[in-house]
Amino acid sequence: MINKKNRMSQKYIGVIGSSNCDYIMTMDHFPQGGETLEGLSFHQAMGGKGANQALAAQRSGGSVCFLTSLGDDSNGRNALDYYKNEGIDVSLSLLTENETTGTAVIWVDKRGENSIVLIPGANRLLEPGYIITHQNMIQNAEMILLQMEIPYETVKTICGLASRYGKKVILNAAPACPIEEEILRSLYILVVNETEAETITGEKMDVTGVDGIIRALLGLGVKNVILTLGGKGCIYSNGIESVRIPAFCVDVKDTTGAGDTFCGALAVGIRKYQTMEQALWFATAAAALSVTKLGAQPSIPLEREILDFLNSRNINI
Ligand code: ATP
Ligand code: RIB
Repeated sequence: MINKKNRMSQKYIGVIGSSNCDYIMTMDHFPQGGETLEGLSFHQAMGGKGANQALAAQRSGGSVCFLTSLGDDSNGRNALDYYKNEGIDVSLSLLTENETTGTAVIWVDKRGENSIVLIPGANRLLEPGYIITHQNMIQNAEMILLQMEIPYETVKTICGLASRYGKKVILNAAPACPIEEEILRSLYILVVNETEAETITGEKMDVTGVDGIIRALLGLGVKNVILTLGGKGCIYSNGIESVRIPAFCVDVKDTTGAGDTFCGALAVGIRKYQTMEQALWFATAAAALSVTKLGAQPSIPLEREILDFLNSRNINI
């Protein structure tokens, strides 16, 4: 576990991003406008893309320092305690009065598909100035893992500081939003799903095809692209080499957070293994396990479970 005292001396993955409280409702099918539907179950869990990725990196064998912004309410305080108990260093995180912790209402249908409404709350308060004040966290990290659920200017500031300190940034460009080339060029890896790739490039994947959309992203200056394709797996390319990893066939309960689990495990896999292909198998196995259970964080696997799963599928990494 890393804490305030030893953060300066340890190699850790720095995750900067959102924290939410997820209110999850399961239902047979999503309701139409004006329809009242009796659902199947209700659950509350910690969530948010930043927090999910921090937890996925920690559980899959990394040491994580997570910088996030929460409301000074019971959800915010419980979340910080929970992440501390998981061994994550959250000592730089913000707890703000007069703002609520981010909230996500998540519907999950019987196919495991989801639909999410997000109220960012305190996530909006993670401003560039706070990052500049705490830039040592970036300077001392081994790599930085980011998503787009915090203000755009904050992401831009982090990428600029990471470039200044020569730190690798993995950006998961979720939720989808346009991203300027200055940021794209600064990244080590961009991880996108189909919608995110289309939003960044302005192209449609049914017109360009998978290879075309990857070329378009590389054309914008991205060094390494990983395109995730849900149940079809993922593709990596740097313009010279490419690797395609199929998704594992599993009993799908809920795909919420599959991309987050993939990204957290990917960051760990890149540090631990020699090749991108090995890191991608590790991330793909973690994500496959995550879709077999309900909820984003409750379904994030431990390193041992990921390795056992790969073993059970005769994949040696
Ligand atoms: P989310 O927003 O739901 O967290 P995402 O859209 O960012 O996810 P996806 O492309 O849906 O990301 O999924 C990421 C990875 O998770 C995939 O590359 C795959 O390895 C795994 N995955 C997703 N859906 C499934 C599935 N149905 N079966 C097995 N693996 C899956
Ligand atoms: O990626 C899944 C996450 O998206 C959920 O945990 C929810 O909080 C939303 O941010």
